[in-house]
Amino acid sequence: MKILGISAHYHDSAAAVVVDGVPVCAVQEERLSRTKNDAGFPINAIEWCLEHAALAPADLDAVVFYERSMLKFERVLTSTLCAFPRSWRSFPHAIKNTLGEKVWVRGIIASQLGVPRSKILFTDHHASHAAAAFLTSPARRAAILTADGVGEWATLTVGTGERRADGRTDITLLREIRFPHSLGMLYSTLTAYLGFKVNEDEYKVMGLAAYGKPTMIDKVQRTIRQQADGSFTLAPEYFEFQTSAARSYSSRFIDLFGPPRDPYEPIDLDSSEGRRYADCAASVQRVVEDILVDIAGRLRRETGLADLCFGGGVALNGVANARILAEAGFDRVFVPSAPGDAGCALGAALYADRIYFHNPDRNVPDHPFWGPAVDASHLARAAREDGQAIEELGEAPLVERVADELAAGRIVGWMDGACEFGPRALGHRSILAAPHDPAMRDRLNRDIKRREEFRPFAPVVPSEVADRYFDLAPGAARLARYMSGVFPVRPEWRERLGAVTHVDGSARVQVLERDMAPRLHALLEAYGRRTGIPVLLNTSFNVAGEPIVTQALEGYMAYRRCGIDVLVGGTTLVNKRATAAAAPHKESGAWSSNSVAASTAG
Ligand SMILES: [Fe+2]
Repeated sequence: MKILGISAHYHDSAAAVVVDGVPVCAVQEERLSRTKNDAGFPINAIEWCLEHAALAPADLDAVVFYERSMLKFERVLTSTLCAFPRSWRSFPHAIKNTLGEKVWVRGIIASQLGVPRSKILFTDHHASHAAAAFLTSPARRAAILTADGVGEWATLTVGTGERRADGRTDITLLREIRFPHSLGMLYSTLTAYLGFKVNEDEYKVMGLAAYGKPTMIDKVQRTIRQQADGSFTLAPEYFEFQTSAARSYSSRFIDLFGPPRDPYEPIDLDSSEGRRYADCAASVQRVVEDILVDIAGRLRRETGLADLCFGGGVALNGVANARILAEAGFDRVFVPSAPGDAGCALGAALYADRIYFHNPDRNVPDHPFWGPAVDASHLARAAREDGQAIEELGEAPLVERVADELAAGRIVGWMDGACEFGPRALGHRSILAAPHDPAMRDRLNRDIKRREEFRPFAPVVPSEVADRYFDLAPGAARLARYMSGVFPVRPEWRERLGAVTHVDGSARVQVLERDMAPRLHALLEAYGRRTGIPVLLNTSFNVAGEPIVTQALEGYMAYRRCGIDVLVGGTTLVNKRATAAAAPHKESGAWSSNSVAASTAG
């Protein structure tokens, strides 16, 4: 059976294809359209998926949309009307969004793909999250927790999943918390209050929280109240997201926490205002963690299950995930590589396969590499036409050569195989660098990422030696497979891992099994032979404000206009230093020599 899953029209649109119960491919629209967080109908992603799977639309048995758009429309309409007349300004915006695209999804899919309307199915938004978390994990039975901003009505669900002995699959969502009561909305409200972009910059709040103290927990608890049964309610007087498209927090919220941050003002952590922002972030972070740990702990006691599968955008919060693992009583916590709405494309397709069509259980390969593969010949051609020196190396010489470059302090753009599904670079589209000196972090922030100093970079370490450098509780390595947990760097290594250790001594480490990304694993070992520490700084291969690179040419363009020293695509290597040495007095291509000089200076 051939099923196409689609998520669209909120943020991070994506498509995925499942054939005979196993994913064949999945990609976010932004990786192809090159518009960050592209929320449009994912026509590029769909076309690529169908082409990659060698399918025509007529071959599909079903097309599954990741939420029930009519229910979502009902929620928008109901909450807007309930808030009238306060909501009258947001009403046209909400109606435009929902009527324009979301409600008529079936018609859009039918006309864009030419598939009969009878083949188009819809799943519940949180069922898609639940399926993406449970059915991509190796767990046979597991408790399921989903949490996000909002889907149709649900914002958090708890339930169970079971792969039965007879091959059938059950996913049962037992209870839900409904809009407007939402951990994701609370976090996004603070994201907006702190001057960051909602649905995009929530992880900046988590990074900032490490610099603050949770001194405002009592204030946060006035805005969100946990009930005796573990559920929670937001106090509506502090929020406006339910009634306003323009602002998510109310003037009461400002009275409580003080003036919001101007997005254009840099955060000065040495000033009292800067510390207040950090304390705000730390306080909301702590309250959200506490509620999640409490809900997960109750779910553990209720189900008696050893494994938890956690999905939804809130599952991107690695600090909360680590606390759930440590405190809720589960042996293992699984977070998929794409827990947010993009991952719902795959979740919806798997849900339809197992639950709607009752197809037999299949193991889903345990890796995140479902996107387009890099074509090294494209890199070689682009570099050659641009007058750059190219080296074609064998597998082992490439690894040794790149380890030499990294040990010499150079920054490497690393493209290997199929790109990741989800927001993290997990070894196939990464910028790699030495993890030792905080100056490297500053150089990456300044020359490539152009981002705030308080945001940490992450390390990657081979699984065999991870525990030597990082304090990994039982189960932590599994959570760290997809960089889904934040764990302490062992104190004796913090100074020598200064570029990847956050201010609180933690790191969002990726623990890499050899079979998941063998070339990167070999590189870590080769780097370890040179420096004594087989750890690298690993950040997503993109420049400020752009999606992660997909194709070789995008990687090459990024390499040429920022401070990356060496670019690797497959076993092809391009090196600014070699080009500069070969033609020291001649500029090549359309770029000025400034970027070459800047990048080789470090
Ligand atoms: Fe969601």
